[in-house]
Amino acid sequence: MNNICIENNSDKKYINKNVTLNAESSAEEFHSLIENISLIKEDYILDVEYMICVADIFENEKFNSMDNIIQHGDTTTKMHSIQVSYLSYRICKRMGLDCDSAARSGLLHDFFLYDWHTHSKETGNHFHGFTHPRVALNNANNEFELNDIEQDTILRHMWPLTIIPPMSIEGMVVVYADKVCTILEVCERFKKMIRGRVKWNLVKNW
Ligand SMILES: [Fe+2]
Ligand SMILES: [Fe+2]
Repeated sequence: MNNICIENNSDKKYINKNVTLNAESSAEEFHSLIENISLIKEDYILDVEYMICVADIFENEKFNSMDNIIQHGDTTTKMHSIQVSYLSYRICKRMGLDCDSAARSGLLHDFFLYDWHTHSKETGNHFHGFTHPRVALNNANNEFELNDIEQDTILRHMWPLTIIPPMSIEGMVVVYADKVCTILEVCERFKKMIRGRVKWNLVKNW
């Protein structure tokens, strides 16, 4: 994809010149993806183009270790990252954006490699929400070659909690996908609690 990088004093802005927004069909794609988000858990693996662009990440031992860490509800950090990544990839592909960068940064946006539910007790760091993007970026840079959009997206994905937004549209898509997936994962937990399938516990693994 062709991204133009405009440097403005210390500010960099990325503008994709291939953005061809068909608002109506893009909106339809968003709704159908969100309605069927549970299918992402199986669909991504059948998407050959997606799997090729993220193959090195899926082969990485540290990335796969996120399968042992819970992110929200019953969803592991690895599955949360896959859902964010594939939703972002599909949206960006539909919009003519850099879907590969969206896919890779989506997979690595929460690459902080600890259980955030117990992290503050164990380390005294009560600001996981603010600090984990930097930890994720440092870990990701140690393991993978990342472009500017991918690095910026990982670092800025907690916007608006962290003040500075991502500089690319791809980054904004990942921010959006992360919020959607988080809300759905937490809602799923509440649904199970209401149906009595899991104990009411608003603190642990929400
Ligand atoms: Fe995050
Ligand atoms: Fe996330």
